[in-house]
Amino acid sequence: MLNVKEIRKDFPMCVKQDAGNGKVYLDNAATTFKPYSVIEAVTRYYTDESVNIHRGDYDLSYQVSDEYEQTRKTVARFLNCEEREVIFTSGASASLNLFAYGWAQKFLKKGDVILSSEAEHASNILPLMKAAELTGATIEYIPLTEEGELTIEAFKGAMHDKVKLVSIAHISNVLGFVHPIKELTKITHEYGAIISVDGAQSVPHIKTDVKDWDIDFLSFSAHKMLGPTGVGVLFGKYALLDQMDAFMLGGGNNARFDICGNIQLKNPPFKFEAGTPAIEAVLGLKAAILYLEKVGMDEIEAYEHELKTYAVSQLKDLKNVILYNPHAGTGIITFNVEGIFAQDTAIYLNSKGLMVRAGNHCAKILVEVIKTSETVRASVSFYNTKEEVDRLVDALRTITLEQCIDLSIM
Ligand SMILES: Cc1ncc(COP(=O)(O)O)c(C=O)c1O
Repeated sequence: MLNVKEIRKDFPMCVKQDAGNGKVYLDNAATTFKPYSVIEAVTRYYTDESVNIHRGDYDLSYQVSDEYEQTRKTVARFLNCEEREVIFTSGASASLNLFAYGWAQKFLKKGDVILSSEAEHASNILPLMKAAELTGATIEYIPLTEEGELTIEAFKGAMHDKVKLVSIAHISNVLGFVHPIKELTKITHEYGAIISVDGAQSVPHIKTDVKDWDIDFLSFSAHKMLGPTGVGVLFGKYALLDQMDAFMLGGGNNARFDICGNIQLKNPPFKFEAGTPAIEAVLGLKAAILYLEKVGMDEIEAYEHELKTYAVSQLKDLKNVILYNPHAGTGIITFNVEGIFAQDTAIYLNSKGLMVRAGNHCAKILVEVIKTSETVRASVSFYNTKEEVDRLVDALRTITLEQCIDLSIM
């Protein structure tokens, strides 16, 4: 059982809310609050350790370089992979683009097929569309259930010999369904293809084990898992990383180069890390992982699901609320209010101190499946409380179109 009351004391944003600022944050799928330990790690770098890494021949540079590499070790433990398989990027979008450039653009060819889903975030599917355009490969989409879920049966039906790459989100950012990644990976490998997983919404919320799942690539951002903005990770199996092209060239990722244009790059992961990275953010990521591990990923998953179930049990009794994903196993609640545009609902909720997101959530193809172009998304984290869910339900109980019109005129 999580002691949420105590947990909230570790987050300055929650402390302000509990002191009575009247706000409720339910947009955790966009980004999360940061605990003091993360803020301190970032601040410590700027106040006590503000030097570059992997370059300086002095104690402080050695020390910070070592701390930076300690984060890699921590990420590797968290994912269950080798340190050399962890590449630091600027975020999930950068990781997905690096994969699409370095692997998909290099190895796909005309006639090859990329298999993806209709629920993908733009940051996953757009780089693949570019890779398809440049290589002559095509993209096929696994049909989803009416609710927008990806099933093993549908995946088996969509898989065939020409598929060379499967690329899907482990958890959809719109609907919160957890896709059966281990089973999908097994089938993918039986066809001799590889799988790239968009873990932006899964790594922060469920226990990750890339070795057990046997996935080939995984992308995610630190800022959605209590860490700072400006850093993310691309995990790749070492043999695949070794063959992959670097997206950026520059200081830090070359072993040698000469006037004739001969360039020899370092081995992974450094091959992919040209230029000065977001050092403070990487140090903050370590603090974020330590915090998540202290709370426990299994406990986080169970509690967030409990909160979601609690929300659904009340929302389904409201006649004016249309729920799109009551059965999804994570903390994402996607809904609309009958007769009210999603953005207007969000503006109304904002007037009650509730922060949620409205729109198509960067998954523009999914609107065809769930047959609505805009939805409201409330997404919980383990520091949210049942009382906060009650605030959402109470606000939706009394929402009217007239109130929304008044607010949009103001
Ligand atoms: C499923 C998914 N993939 C990728 C991203 C992109 O993450 P970032 O904006 O941190 O690069 C997001 C962000 O919302 C997401 O939800």
